[in-house]
Amino acid sequence: MGWRGILGFEYGIVQGPLGPDISGPDLVAAVANAGGLGFLRAPDWESPDYLRELIQKTRNLTDKPFGVGVVLAFPHEENIKAVLEEKVGSLEEAKKAVNAGVDAIIVQGREAGGHVIGQDGLISLLPRVVDLIGDQDIPVIASGGIVDARGYVAALALGAQGICLGTRFVATVESYAHPTYKRKLIQLDKTGYTDIFGRARWPGAPQRVLQTPFFSDHKSLPFNMNELDKPVIGRSTIHGMEKEIRQFAGTVPNATTTGDIESMAMYAGQGVGLIKEILPAGEVVERLVEGAQHLIRQKFGGI
Ligand SMILES: Cc1cc2nc3c(=O)[nH]c(=O)nc-3n(C[C@H](O)[C@H](O)[C@H](O)COP(=O)(O)O)c2cc1C
Repeated sequence: MGWRGILGFEYGIVQGPLGPDISGPDLVAAVANAGGLGFLRAPDWESPDYLRELIQKTRNLTDKPFGVGVVLAFPHEENIKAVLEEKVGSLEEAKKAVNAGVDAIIVQGREAGGHVIGQDGLISLLPRVVDLIGDQDIPVIASGGIVDARGYVAALALGAQGICLGTRFVATVESYAHPTYKRKLIQLDKTGYTDIFGRARWPGAPQRVLQTPFFSDHKSLPFNMNELDKPVIGRSTIHGMEKEIRQFAGTVPNATTTGDIESMAMYAGQGVGLIKEILPAGEVVERLVEGAQHLIRQKFGGI
């Protein structure tokens, strides 16, 4: 069985998990139905029954494989148990999807949106990892700054078998991001690498964010300050729980968020300047596939 068979998805296009709940059942199912592999995002607290519901809702929308992303920095054992039980107990596609995170290596460059630790750019990091893996049969998935077919083909040329996109999928019809956040991804085209958001809740986890006016005005938050010193600027229901959002919290606004949305963290990768419209997620996948086929024929067909 080839790597596509192992991973159980068609085109090597992955929608990475988008916290805290931006990649919900609607987005993940839309990606899956178009032949990509979408990842749900588990809550950052133990909530196995809620997670089972998320998985079930997704299954009601697609019979294709999908995955679940869990952040290990937060309580997760019961959630992982629920994911594994779902895999064993019922549908085979869930088994493949859960395995996908383990059976492949995702190489993330510093261009990526969200939390990023490494400082290497994808174009030099990716071929090094490909060389290290050599002829072991482990698929390498490229991530960071890829939003269109050109990035997809470039990643293939560098030795990847697939790509993982985050920001492009936040700016889709089905993502659970707040409409203002989606609109800003279309309007703005610069990002910053920072640790000003969510310092207290998740220390030592810098992130790449959209350069909003709020970020530009506040990016030199003194190192001894964090969100706990700051006022509440809004509220969100996240995975069924009501949460207060403080200024400088690390939580991006979702569809339920109220308050001063423009002052909240908005994660984005460096490819954001290439995103010009909010699209249905299935169309994002289709454009990547068709664009890549076209590009390969047009540019490399005669080689
Ligand atoms: C809003 C947002 C939330 C994210 N949350 C997570 C997460 O919870 N877990 C994770 O592994 N990656 C997370 N990521 C990273 C993505 O899964 C993906 O690897 C990354 O966005 C790829 O880079 P790109 O945004 O340039 O496409 C997040 C990214 C964004 C933009």
